[in-house]
Amino acid sequence: MTKIFNTGLTESDVTPKEVYLNRRQIMAGTGALIAAGAIGGRAEASLTTVPSKYSTMEKPNTLHDITNYNNYYEFGLEKTDPAANAHTLTTSPWAIQIDGMVDKPGNYGLEDILKGVTLEERIYRHRCVEAWSMVIPWDGFPLSVLLNRAGVQPSAKYIAFQTVLRPEEMPGQRTNVLDWPYREGLRMDEAMHPLTILATGIYGADMPKQDGAPIRLVVPWKYGFKGAKSIVKISAVAEQPVTTWNTMAPNEYGFYSNVNPKVDHPRWSQASERRIGGGLFAKRIDTVMFNGYGDLVASLYTGMDLKKNF
Ligand code: MTE
Repeated sequence: MTKIFNTGLTESDVTPKEVYLNRRQIMAGTGALIAAGAIGGRAEASLTTVPSKYSTMEKPNTLHDITNYNNYYEFGLEKTDPAANAHTLTTSPWAIQIDGMVDKPGNYGLEDILKGVTLEERIYRHRCVEAWSMVIPWDGFPLSVLLNRAGVQPSAKYIAFQTVLRPEEMPGQRTNVLDWPYREGLRMDEAMHPLTILATGIYGADMPKQDGAPIRLVVPWKYGFKGAKSIVKISAVAEQPVTTWNTMAPNEYGFYSNVNPKVDHPRWSQASERRIGGGLFAKRIDTVMFNGYGDLVASLYTGMDLKKNF
């Protein structure tokens, strides 16, 4: 009997409907049972899925919370700005340039990318807690699927990501609050880890624009960090790539961004988090190292000082 991650429950304890309310559910291999259409939020993708060993039973946030409390500086600095402003972004057609140390570089249409992902790969339920804490039922597929299709060469050690640069559609890019385009990066083992996904939807529907439509990164053990939105470029590179936050505030945001509850951010404690939607009097929740995925990812950082590599 598969034990559901972090809950003490077994598969027989949950029905498929309840499973849909799970947090962190990853469909790997035969876990996927539904015949959904393409990835990217067709309604069918929200139907029955089977729990995997990564699932937990936390209640997901409402779509309202998930779409009205966002960081997306291309659309403003306030948490409510992306909901108000992101409608100006054109998300179709969309292409991702895959380049650098790969066997098959190219500018690939998102539709073609999604068509190339098999049914088992594409159905991918996933829950994740953001930095200020939200539980989000993402839809997507493992980043490794795309990287393996592109044929990452052994000399590549990191993956770099870039958000679209379209100042005419993104008012924030007409200011210099960040050095545009927005950039992120992962070490190769982080990028290839099955928990790391490219998400194309939430709650079984297409990704809302303020959450990073049409495709964004989700690295659940790093809380909300590393979630580059509206990605147009993925590069396999030899050196650690430049990332937006590391460049803007190197003393506050390291490359790894493994939120360590024992290490304070220079301006706030990282020991606890506030769950959005919990109301004014909701208790803060203890933040857990690696967002509770330590048994799956701690080994990636063996021998590294996670206070220095924060
Ligand atoms: N991606 C882009 N392109 N621009 C941004 O400003 N903000 C990041 C990340 N991805 C950001 C981005 C930050 S700081 C966080 S916490 C998450 O997105 C927030 O994701 P959410 O709004 O979907 O919760």
